[in-house]
Amino acid sequence: MEHVYTDGSGLFTRNLVPGEAVYGERLKTQDETEYRFWNPRRSKLAALILKGCDVFPFAADSTVLYLGAASGTTASHLSDICSRGVIYCVEVSPRPFRKLVSLSESRKNMMPILADANKPEDYQAAVGRADIVYQDIAQRNQAGILLKNLGLVRERGYAFLMVKARSVDVTKRPTRVYDAVEDELSRSGVNVLQRVNLDPYEKDHAALIAQK
Ligand SMILES: C[S@@+](CC[C@H](N)C(=O)[O-])C[C@H]1O[C@@H](n2cnc3c(N)ncnc32)[C@H](O)[C@@H]1O
Repeated sequence: MEHVYTDGSGLFTRNLVPGEAVYGERLKTQDETEYRFWNPRRSKLAALILKGCDVFPFAADSTVLYLGAASGTTASHLSDICSRGVIYCVEVSPRPFRKLVSLSESRKNMMPILADANKPEDYQAAVGRADIVYQDIAQRNQAGILLKNLGLVRERGYAFLMVKARSVDVTKRPTRVYDAVEDELSRSGVNVLQRVNLDPYEKDHAALIAQK
């Protein structure tokens, strides 16, 4: 896994903006390089890596469309990893968006977009074609939102969907919800490569990794 490091105690990314922590995470310097601790209880992508991720397409020059960026916790680690690429950070809520804007002042590869991920037509001109879409949105129509945004991903590009079972249907067992989301994607021609349960880092959440 390129650009993700471990010292045996946890995951780290190389800090793109040395001296600056984003969410109070620990910084450490080794051989004159500064790293940021990547907390799996704050970031589902870190949880996914620790649980075992077969595909990790995030590279130094990747273009990522990030849906539900909130105040940029996970997006900031992708900004470390994709240091020569771009992270388009879509967020609908103005409050976390303000933090995204201030982060993007020092992290030049983060592009904040205040928009509803249900309406990709509002930001498709800015994004163009991404290599990867990463979605972490606690809404009922999580699969539907992802499918709408796949038009902004290049052919054979990847999708990372963090599914919150309780947002889709509180009455169903989480595994049934993951099955239904996976079915919806497969029926639309998306190739689901892996499903990873994020327990114990995130209860009732799973990550789906898919390819267009
Ligand atoms: C679980 S939080 C994301 C945490 C973030 N991905 C991280 O790991 O740092 C979900 C975010 O999705 C945002 N959201 C919900 N519905 C949305 C929509 N339709 N379009 C864009 N963002 C949305 C919420 O405002 C919230 O900030």
